[in-house]
Amino acid sequence: MISFICNNKEFFENCTGGLPVLDWIRSQTDLKGTKEGCREGDCGACTVVVGRPGKDGIEYSAVCSCLLPIGDISGCHLVTIEGLTTGDELTPFQRSFYDEAASQCGFCTPGMIMSLTGCLLGSAELSSSAAIEALDGNICRCTGYIAVKRAVDSVMEKLPLQYENRIQMLINEGHIPAYFNTISERLSKLPLYEVSANGAVISGGTDIYVHSSDKLSGEQPEFLSRRNDLNFIRMEHGIVRIGSAVTFTQLRESAVISGLFPGLKGFLSRVSSTQIRSRATVGGNIVNASPIADMAIVFLALNASVTFSDRTVPLSKFYLGYKQLDMQPGEILTEVSFPVPEKGSVLSSLKVCKREYLDIASVNSSMLLKVKDNIILGVRISAGGVSPIPMQLVKTGKYLRGKTISEEIIREACIISATEISPISDIRGSSKYKKKLLQAQIRAHLTRGLEQ
Ligand SMILES: Cc1cc2nc3c(=O)[nH]c(=O)nc-3n(C[C@H](O)[C@H](O)[C@H](O)COP(=O)(O)OP(=O)(O)OC[C@H]3O[C@@H](n4cnc5c(N)ncnc54)[C@H](O)[C@@H]3O)c2cc1C
Ligand code: FES
Ligand code: FES
Repeated sequence: MISFICNNKEFFENCTGGLPVLDWIRSQTDLKGTKEGCREGDCGACTVVVGRPGKDGIEYSAVCSCLLPIGDISGCHLVTIEGLTTGDELTPFQRSFYDEAASQCGFCTPGMIMSLTGCLLGSAELSSSAAIEALDGNICRCTGYIAVKRAVDSVMEKLPLQYENRIQMLINEGHIPAYFNTISERLSKLPLYEVSANGAVISGGTDIYVHSSDKLSGEQPEFLSRRNDLNFIRMEHGIVRIGSAVTFTQLRESAVISGLFPGLKGFLSRVSSTQIRSRATVGGNIVNASPIADMAIVFLALNASVTFSDRTVPLSKFYLGYKQLDMQPGEILTEVSFPVPEKGSVLSSLKVCKREYLDIASVNSSMLLKVKDNIILGVRISAGGVSPIPMQLVKTGKYLRGKTISEEIIREACIISATEISPISDIRGSSKYKKKLLQAQIRAHLTRGLEQ
């Protein structure tokens, strides 16, 4: 039995846990505001807000319902556009979209309003820029974004900055109805989700649902995202340990991670979108083994290892060939760990995509660099999109170690890097272009290192 609260009503469903929430909403309810667009996490039309009981109360975030298995919301609060009001009234964002003519055909509008409400409910920062950033996973094909920005600004300007209780403030301001105050207690009374899994292993589902949604619909998957023992970020005895079920959002908000790598937050803002980052996990990124997996690139530069129940392997040896892993069927990746970098080291991560938001990289790379008086004391470089696997640039790193940075050294490092890689020409660029992209990134990393 899968039990949850959708808007203001308890549901007890006997369906398979792999059914996408979007399909449940559209086929089993009369809530038609949630739209089906791409079914690939790309358009944001299907955005809903999910509230999950956490350490400090219910943690709300906007997610794509097309990639969200229903079993994974058991015990949670699912909010659709219809749940933001109890009658015919409009929320401040809905009113403002109307006033500013920020909606034409309206297909994208419910998703946008849900992303904005997810920001109000879940974002650490409440500002116009945070609200605009929360729309990074919503595509509009007719209005354009200027009117949307005007509509968002006019609401955020009026939001009280001082309040004791976020939910109560949002109720008072008309963003959510009063029933939100009852949700925590009602969720605690729902029966536990107990099911014997007989299907795929799913963490965030943001890779596997893109290509296997129909198959997964009929399965009872194993949900790693529900396992607290896989969700931690800690530093102990000079090692940083990250549970495989940690999401990109958690990584981005982690004090441990931003304390070590202040620049990583900016890079993570360019990884997927708010809705995808709320679900996508570190473990899923590594196991999915895309040659341009952003997290794999970061962890390769940090010389990370991956741990399974009874063994630990260096990440640099984990990828054996295109989508081939040193991993047995049924094995679960439990944690990623890496040594705390030496004092004075700087991590620089870059990706170049065809568009600024919500895109996979043509080429991405990371460099962990320690420079003193222009001399490179330590360096490790990784790159994606330039070979069948995410890789370390061992020769380039070896060449740079001990050198004094100069134009000539940078140029030579770029030449060496081209001998280590074998990019293919595809939709993301020609082989020649990708070589140039990597070289430009190496130059940028070294320049960044010098500036520290
Ligand atoms: C719109 C969109 C944009 C995206 N943008 C980016 C981007 O910018 N950069 C990027 O790198 N990726 C991007 N992705 C890809 C995806 O979000 C990431 O790769 C994500 O990290 C996958 O994690 P997940 O938890 O969702 O994996 P899932 O889909 O849950 O799983 C992926 C695979 O790994 C297996 N698996 C998952 N966890 C484990 C584990 N702990 N042990 C063993 N097997 C496991 C699953 O069985 C499955 O085969 C994007 C995806 C979408 C839909
Ligand atoms: S339908 Fe496009 S993101 Fe879900
Ligand atoms: S209003 Fe038509 S897609 Fe945005």
